[in-house]
Amino acid sequence: MSEEQCEIGMIGLGVMGRNLLLNIAERGFTVAGFDKDAAQVARLQQEAGRLPVVPCRDLARFLAVLRRPRAVLLLVPAGPPVDAVLHELQMHLAEGDVVIDGGNSYFADTDRRRERLAEDGLLLLGLGVSGGEAGARRGPSMMPGGPLKAYERVRPVLEAAAAKVGNEPCVTWLGPGSAGHYVKMVHNGIEYALMQLIAESYDLLHRGLGLGNAELAGVYRDWNGRELAGFLIEISAAIFEQPDPKGGLLIDAILDAARQKGTGMWTSRQALDLQVPTPGIDMAVMMRDLSALREERKQAAGLLPGPVKGHGVEHAEFLPLLERGLYAAFLIAFAQGMALLQRASSENGYGLKLAEVARIWRGGCIIRAALLEELRAAFADRPVLPNLLLDERTGRLVAERQRALRQVVQTAAALGIPAPGLMSALAYYDGYRSARLPTNLVQAQRDFFGAHTYERRDGAGTFHTEWNGGER
Ligand code: 6PG
Repeated sequence: MSEEQCEIGMIGLGVMGRNLLLNIAERGFTVAGFDKDAAQVARLQQEAGRLPVVPCRDLARFLAVLRRPRAVLLLVPAGPPVDAVLHELQMHLAEGDVVIDGGNSYFADTDRRRERLAEDGLLLLGLGVSGGEAGARRGPSMMPGGPLKAYERVRPVLEAAAAKVGNEPCVTWLGPGSAGHYVKMVHNGIEYALMQLIAESYDLLHRGLGLGNAELAGVYRDWNGRELAGFLIEISAAIFEQPDPKGGLLIDAILDAARQKGTGMWTSRQALDLQVPTPGIDMAVMMRDLSALREERKQAAGLLPGPVKGHGVEHAEFLPLLERGLYAAFLIAFAQGMALLQRASSENGYGLKLAEVARIWRGGCIIRAALLEELRAAFADRPVLPNLLLDERTGRLVAERQRALRQVVQTAAALGIPAPGLMSALAYYDGYRSARLPTNLVQAQRDFFGAHTYERRDGAGTFHTEWNGGER
């Protein structure tokens, strides 16, 4: 390969990096790949076959074969490894070169790194990539943010490699700075919420209704053919049929303690910082934490009683209720995530177009689902819609299912099956639609014990009262 021929280069040839690079090469772009682990470079060479891929064991050669201004895509683990690679690149790249961080980096790190690279005239794109290994190979959803000029440099590559819905690629420039990584973080927060809701539906169907794995596979497969259709429902159906090489079905052999890399927690933390309620995401993080307390749960199981047995659940009646209730809870989870994005967009100056965010989530990513068409339409009508529940059509979709959600929640409570995702979705719905909440009492208490003042319903101003009984 002569110098400066490759359209883009990849640093980090783990399974995600390798797959994304092969995907790009398959679209006709000549690409280069570098990893400091020679075994990964060899693996790329072997998998590339006749594709236009230049595997590099040497960073200097890798940088020499890239067309200028160079575009270097990083798929290395988030955190210190990204800083280490950027530090090295900063010494070798030239003004106008573009670095794209395709990992799940924390958005504030992306802002910090962008400023650092800008000192040398380097442009950093923070690129959220969703879809796992298969998505990277066949077409992920990609969420880029950063200088528009940097996006324009790699736009043909990203559009070609992205998942397509119809003819539309699931990628677009989202905004400046850390907009891309922020949107990916919230994508993951919503992913957590949806996964928790599906897990609760599994618990209700399995422990509550006594459905076995074959029946469960059938239920999720049916649901995937209707309004709940989406990737996470689809894979749930497949999971209930996966055999365990040791015998039986794999789902029954998997330990009930969920792990996490942190993106869900980041989303919740951000939501708390920006004072945007996202209980569906918070509950999902909380339940992963609770699930990890296995030893304590085992002790408590022998100590703490649940409801007395006797709550019969009728299959034929409950299944459609759960389907409708779950759909409402899905919409509510999206409403919370989008409300966070809306607020963050104005706080951080991202200028996000939420209709575009919904559009690029329709294919390739983990939360892709039929209902994203509803979101897209809602935000296309009203780009600064503060909450999806205020959109006439989406609000109605939830309202028409609130009775089902209420009945599902009642059943869960009666059976003693933990359903904090479903319950918090209903509580959020009821809280959001309450023109009057009991927080007047909270204000009174704050003023009582701390002279924190309150406002009145009948006029402007800030007041403090010397409460009767204040002297104790
Ligand atoms: C995606 C996924 C991906 C990854 C999660 C897993 O969009 O492709 O979200 O980014 O699977 O980071 O996160 P946890 O380990 O925190 O569940």
